[in-house]
Amino acid sequence: MSRPMLEIRSLRKSFSVRNAFGRQIGEVRAVDDVSFSIEKGQVYGLAGESGSGKSTIARMIMGLEQPDEGEIQIDGESLSRSSRGHRRHVQMVFQNPGSSLNPRRTVGQSVAVPLDAHSFERNKRQRISELLEMVQLPANFAERYPHELSGGQKQRVAIARALAVEPKLLVLDEPTSALDVSVQARVIDLLADLGRRMDLTYLFISHDLSLMRNFAGRVGVLYRGQIVETGSSTAVFENPSHDYTRLLLASVPVISKEEEAMRPKIPLIDGEIPTAEKLLALRGADPRASHERG
Ligand SMILES: Nc1ncnc2c1ncn2[C@@H]1O[C@H](COP(=O)(O)OP(=O)(O)O)[C@@H](O)[C@H]1O
Ligand SMILES: [Mg+2]
Repeated sequence: MSRPMLEIRSLRKSFSVRNAFGRQIGEVRAVDDVSFSIEKGQVYGLAGESGSGKSTIARMIMGLEQPDEGEIQIDGESLSRSSRGHRRHVQMVFQNPGSSLNPRRTVGQSVAVPLDAHSFERNKRQRISELLEMVQLPANFAERYPHELSGGQKQRVAIARALAVEPKLLVLDEPTSALDVSVQARVIDLLADLGRRMDLTYLFISHDLSLMRNFAGRVGVLYRGQIVETGSSTAVFENPSHDYTRLLLASVPVISKEEEAMRPKIPLIDGEIPTAEKLLALRGADPRASHERG
């Protein structure tokens, strides 16, 4: 087998928790010994509730945050030793397209930023039209400003900008969470189509497991900075072995009758879905016990 596009080994990152006077009063282990790899051309889904450490992992892969321990390799090259030229192979699409696009720049100017930063000398106008076409936006959108666009259109611009420097790996951190449900699936379809055509590798981060199930080949479920369940998307979602995964699945909005039938039954406490903590305590399960699957 050829080497993976992304390989993460024993990654750790803690943040200090400070009081109002700046004194350290504790520490949060945001990422606590995480390892996984993504084969070339594959989609890996990283799931987990808010605060489980997903974005911290994404930021370390992007070099925006330094790991305390562990190793990140992109296409066989260690991130800590890689050049700028190599780093362009990883690009990111953020959750909120509203704040990731500069409101004072036209769409064309935003898409051109990475082209300039990495000195792509080709005919820029033509390249911008090409990129907009890839994300199914008309070429004349280059002249528009972000406030003239819908949320879905803005996210397409952010995707075009990420694709500008021909990356091999795209980190998608909740790319559709800020969008209307009706628009989410279309953005995922676009990403899937682009991935196939351009042989891209994706790290798809989301707390929405119904989107992930269709898009990702393999998944890892993150709980308090640790991967508690991992395996093929089908194995994990159709037969989750970990209570926390079941709980995440149960909180996904149900779309069809079949999905309703597949939905795991979670006991309600006082008529409410219990928190992960309560549920695990109730069952006497160890939340840190890991399950390698499929
Ligand atoms: N820069 C930071 N300073 C302090 N704590 C942080 C920082 N970034 C993240 N954290 C903490 O690390 C944990 C994981 O956060 P994050 O990676 O953003 O989770 P997620 O993306 O899954 O919601 C949270 O407890 C969060 O409060
Ligand atoms: Mg996040």
